[in-house]
Amino acid sequence: MNGKYRLELEEKYKDKISVNTNLNRQLVSFQANKGLPFFRWFKYKEGFSAPLVNYLIDQTPAQRKKILLDPFAGSGAALFCAREKGLKSVGIEVLPVGLFIIKTRLNAEKINIDNLIKISKKIKHIDLLDFEQEGNYRFTHLNITRGAFPEDTERYLNGFRNYCNQEVTDPIIKDLLLFALFSILETISFTRKDGQYLRWDDRAKKNDGSIKFNKGEIYSFKEALSEKLDEIIFDISIMKREDKERKELTLYDDSVLYRLPILTENSIDIVITSPPYCNRYDYTRTYALELAFLGVNNEALKEFRQSQLTSTVENREKFEQLKDFYLKKDRAVDFERICQSFASQNALAEILAILESYKTDNKLNNSNIVRMVKNYFFEMCLVIFEMFRIIKKDGIVYMVNDNVRYAGETIPVDLILSDFAEAAGFNVDKFWILGNGKGNSSQQMGSHGRENLIKCLYVWKK
Ligand SMILES: C[S@@+](CC[C@H](N)C(=O)[O-])C[C@H]1O[C@@H](n2cnc3c(N)ncnc32)[C@H](O)[C@@H]1O
Repeated sequence: MNGKYRLELEEKYKDKISVNTNLNRQLVSFQANKGLPFFRWFKYKEGFSAPLVNYLIDQTPAQRKKILLDPFAGSGAALFCAREKGLKSVGIEVLPVGLFIIKTRLNAEKINIDNLIKISKKIKHIDLLDFEQEGNYRFTHLNITRGAFPEDTERYLNGFRNYCNQEVTDPIIKDLLLFALFSILETISFTRKDGQYLRWDDRAKKNDGSIKFNKGEIYSFKEALSEKLDEIIFDISIMKREDKERKELTLYDDSVLYRLPILTENSIDIVITSPPYCNRYDYTRTYALELAFLGVNNEALKEFRQSQLTSTVENREKFEQLKDFYLKKDRAVDFERICQSFASQNALAEILAILESYKTDNKLNNSNIVRMVKNYFFEMCLVIFEMFRIIKKDGIVYMVNDNVRYAGETIPVDLILSDFAEAAGFNVDKFWILGNGKGNSSQQMGSHGRENLIKCLYVWKK
């Protein structure tokens, strides 16, 4: 790795880095949820796999298996797995997409399944187009979603929502039906979530000849909805038969930056989390269709983008608001400590200075990359200090994150965040690298092979 301070940091932690052959790329990604009850309802691409969360909870000593927090809850994989294992769970999420997924799944536990089956049978036999003109619901597009559905599909979609609004009185069933539709929006559209982007299919009306991508089969509204409803009904029916007591799940519809500082000290046993990566990935773009469906307009979309932990070049600095917030909470000293730890992380300062010089020399493909990297780390520093405060003694943090590279400069996100963790008071226990299915578990990474290292799971203890 380049740079004096980055090398020093690598040297400091190298003996704690090892390959964990129990972990692999599939296990750490959403792929492993394919076919799993509930998890399969909505493909939250950035989500944890249930087997990974279960593995981490199983690694945790019994006395710490009480209250789990995921401050970047997303679709709630960590929260629901914890619940199945008898833990209480607390989640924080700022985007309506994840919030809707979590709330629906919770409500599914209370649903009257017989009524749901009845209504869903009825829906399969009525002509939804009869309801298209009857109600006043119309899909309100965002600038970036206009033309996303085949015309017929959009008419069915409007008909279905009007039908739900007029004919379904049970609010839990109505929400679940809307959730089924929410879950198939991508399948029935000309779009596909693909890496950083929402890609468009060449059959979309807006194609002026420049789009060459074909996403394969675009499902008809009826077919996709019917399959989704069957899947949902099947999973709920099985769960109802179990009749299991589940512990409390608390969900905060808030930004982690403002919620963590007001959570009670020493109240959490384990954190299992995966924050946004410092890779310019914009959740509000990828999930634009779902956000539009949930009633988010262009203005609100921008606000949601800004409320995200900084990870895109569009994010503006939040420093002054955060400072004000800490002052109002009478925590100026804590804020100062966070600022000092951030400023004294030499490897990060080294990277920021280099990126700044690249910016001056026009070597960055976007000049806001420096601002993004700086604010990403500042906000994560704050998150880490707050996690330390709210975690109990002997509590554990498991974090999944990616390392990134800009203009050839490696940013060892894993090492820098762990150094913040140490400054906050954590003991940096280990860095787990995913196995390739061949190595042995005691294999040490050392500095060898770090250049290609992207995904990593770190363990910190209080
Ligand atoms: C990598 S995903 C986590 C996925 C999650 N582990 C799961 O299983 O679905 C990161 C999540 O952090 C959320 N997020 C980003 N900024 C946030 C903030 N300021 N406060 C709370 N959540 C935030 C994003 O909306 C996204 O859902």
